[in-house]
Amino acid sequence: MSEKPMPNIAFDLQRIHRVITRGLTVLEENCHVFAESGFPDETTCEGFWKYCQALEANIQGHHMAEDDIFFPFVAPRLPERDIPRLSLEHQVLANTLGQMKASREAGSLVDLGPELSKLAGVWYPHIHKEETWFSPEIMGQVLTVPEHIDLAQKTAAHSAAHAQPAPLCVPFLLYNAEPEDRAFYMNAMPPELTQQLVPIVWKDEWAAMKPFLLN
Ligand SMILES: [Fe+2]
Ligand SMILES: [Fe+2]
Repeated sequence: MSEKPMPNIAFDLQRIHRVITRGLTVLEENCHVFAESGFPDETTCEGFWKYCQALEANIQGHHMAEDDIFFPFVAPRLPERDIPRLSLEHQVLANTLGQMKASREAGSLVDLGPELSKLAGVWYPHIHKEETWFSPEIMGQVLTVPEHIDLAQKTAAHSAAHAQPAPLCVPFLLYNAEPEDRAFYMNAMPPELTQQLVPIVWKDEWAAMKPFLLN
């Protein structure tokens, strides 16, 4: 008989960090290539900027879920950790996201490149701290199983509500996720979303991002 794995909010953090990290890597690599050689066609150009928009919004949604729900809940359980510092880093990242948006709206790869480097410079040490401070072992010690389940549901709902527009952000989440992570998300989402909206109703809106997404 297979045992159901224990729920642990730390795995949810690691999962969304992997999705965002892939998005950032893909965007950096392609920004460099297209800045050198130009976009091969209009659809690729459209898809690149939509992918950029979806990355910005998914980071924003994730950070709001941490600031509004996760951090306030775990901070009293981990008084030795400088959790306000993590929220300050979110503000630094939000400033960079604002600059990325301006570059995107101007269609400027030359301006976008340095913003992506700035984002990466804060992002990697930031998630390293989070994944160390909120490791599965530590979270397993400071939260009860019902708290893990409740926090996972609340943070997922909060980030989904703020990661907009959904027709770009949901496909971005699903198709930057490796198979195991994608299966987790698909299972957690309502069937209407995964069987109707993403593959059919929203398809035309996000299809241009396909060259940057996983199969
Ligand atoms: Fe964070
Ligand atoms: Fe995070």
